[in-house]
Parts: sequence; structure tokens; C-alpha cells
Amino acid sequence: MVESTARRVVLVTGASRGIGADTARQFGATGAHVLVNFREKRKRAETVVTEIVTAGGSASVIGADVSEPDDVAAMAADIQRTYGRLDVLVLNASGGLERDADPGYALRLNRDAQVDLAKAMLPLMPSGGRIMFVTSHQAHFIHEKPDVPAGYAPIARSKRAGEDALRALIPEFRSRGVGFSVVSGDVIDGTIIVRLLERRDASSVASRRAAGPLPTVEDFAAAIVTAAESDDADGRTVYVGGADYLTSSAVGSDRG
Ligand SMILES: NC(=O)c1ccc[n+]([C@@H]2O[C@H](COP(=O)([O-])OP(=O)(O)OC[C@H]3O[C@@H](n4cnc5c(N)ncnc54)[C@H](OP(=O)(O)O)[C@@H]3O)[C@@H](O)[C@H]2O)c1
Repeated sequence: MVESTARRVVLVTGASRGIGADTARQFGATGAHVLVNFREKRKRAETVVTEIVTAGGSASVIGADVSEPDDVAAMAADIQRTYGRLDVLVLNASGGLERDADPGYALRLNRDAQVDLAKAMLPLMPSGGRIMFVTSHQAHFIHEKPDVPAGYAPIARSKRAGEDALRALIPEFRSRGVGFSVVSGDVIDGTIIVRLLERRDASSVASRRAAGPLPTVEDFAAAIVTAAESDDADGRTVYVGGADYLTSSAVGSDRG
């Protein structure tokens, strides 16, 4: 049954923890109905929903491993059936550093799954809808600055490949009146990934800290929510932290 809701319907992938969870909470505070996607950690996703609802917002959990095409199709069908539309898609879920990940997993998740998600959700999105791709400076600038923490290069390359594949779809998004933005952040303080990278390659994270104060999860999530509301969404990149990346001659335009 289609629930008629005047609220914007926002799907945040990978919202059971970290940046996705805070992005979901901040969208909840705008009055949107937030779909909190998780892969395995249903309890954590339910806690995020409870926090949003307790704060006066509206949210529900939606489980799907976004690297599984059948899960993506089922999630799109569920959103269509329940809400009849999707206003904002935040492509936040990411991975590849998992201990059990096979060598092709990073590209499957960070490129192929992002494209599958965008294509599956686009028919549900009205004109004025937004697709946001969340990435890191270390991925966004991997071709210009290949010096990333040990073990992170394949992930960074797969995320940049995902960004490029999504950018190739901009004409399709535009033809439906749907905006596309990339939100790229420096290393974000306090996240699990940073603690993991710090254990693997402490000097690399230390060099980012030395470059200036690192953005917090709240800063980064706020930039994602603000970018979703901007009229400027025709391939723009919003940068959060890492001013040294932006002064480099490698950075030509905020459209790429
Ligand atoms: N951390 C940083 O310093 C940093 C900096 C810049 C940009 N970013 C970007 O910000 C985003 C979030 O980063 P984070 O550090 O918050 O990530 P994280 O702590 O590793 O959280 C990952 C989230 O994605 C979900 N997830 C993983 N694989 C999934 C899959 N196949 N299908 C569905 N959900 C999946 C996890 O769900 P389960 O727990 O249920 O498995 C979890 O909710 C990423 O795109 C990352 O590149 C991070």
C-alpha cells in the first residue's frame, strides 16, 4: 500500500553507523522520512530510527546488501510500493577493507552497486530529486595524489571509478530533472575506518592531522544534507576539509 506522505523520502545507504547514521539523523531533523539502510546490523539501524523518531522525526529501516542486485531491486520495489517515490538518494555505503572481502568486491560495491542503485531508484524520483555520492578526498583525488594509506589504494580507485561511472549518467539524471552532487571529505575524525587505517599506517593519518583539523562526522553529514538542498546540483563536488588538496594545481574544477 502506498503511504501518502508530504515528507520528502530520503534513502541513506549504509546508515547503521558512522557518517551514514549521522546523515540519516540530520535528514530526520529536516522533517524528511528517512529510510535507514543497513546490510547486517539491523539493531544498529533500528537504534538510528529510534533516535530520529524520539527527536520528533520520521524514519524506518530498510535492509539490503547493495552489492547484491536482487537486494537492490527488492529495495526499489519496496520503496515504490510503500511511498510511491524517492526524493533523495544518498550513496554512502562503501567498503572493501573487510577481512573476508574477495579481490573484486571493492569494485563491485563502490562502482557497480552505486550505478545499479542509481538506475534502480531513478524511475522513482520526481523532477527536483537528488542523487548524492559520498566519497573521500583520497579517492576523489587518487589520480592526482596517489599517496594514500597502505592498503587503501584499491578502495580509493574503486570509489573514483564509481564516481566517474555515476558522472557518465548525469545526462540521464538531467533528462529527468534529477540533480547529482558529489560530497568529498578529508579523513573524518572518530570514524572506525580512520582507526583501522591508523593501525595499518599511522604516519599517513598523522600527516592528514598535521595538515589541519580534521572534519568531524557531524560536519561531514551536515555538508551532505546541505548539498541535497542546493539548487546547484549538476555534477558539483562539495569539499569538506583538506584545504591543501584544493590549493593544489591538480584541482581544476568542482565539476569533476
Ligand atoms: N571515514 C572517513 O574518514 C571518510 C572520509 C571521507 C569519506 N568517507 C566516506 O563516507 C562514507 C561512510 O564512511 P564511514 O566511515 O561512515 O563507513 P563505515 O563506518 O565503514 O560504515 C559503513 C556502512 O555501510 C554499510 N555497508 C557496508 N557494506 C554494505 C553493503 N554491501 N550494503 C549495504 N550497506 C553496506 C554498513 O552497514 P552494516 O554495518 O549493516 O554492515 C555501515 O552502515 C563512505 O562512502 C566513505 O568513503 C569516509
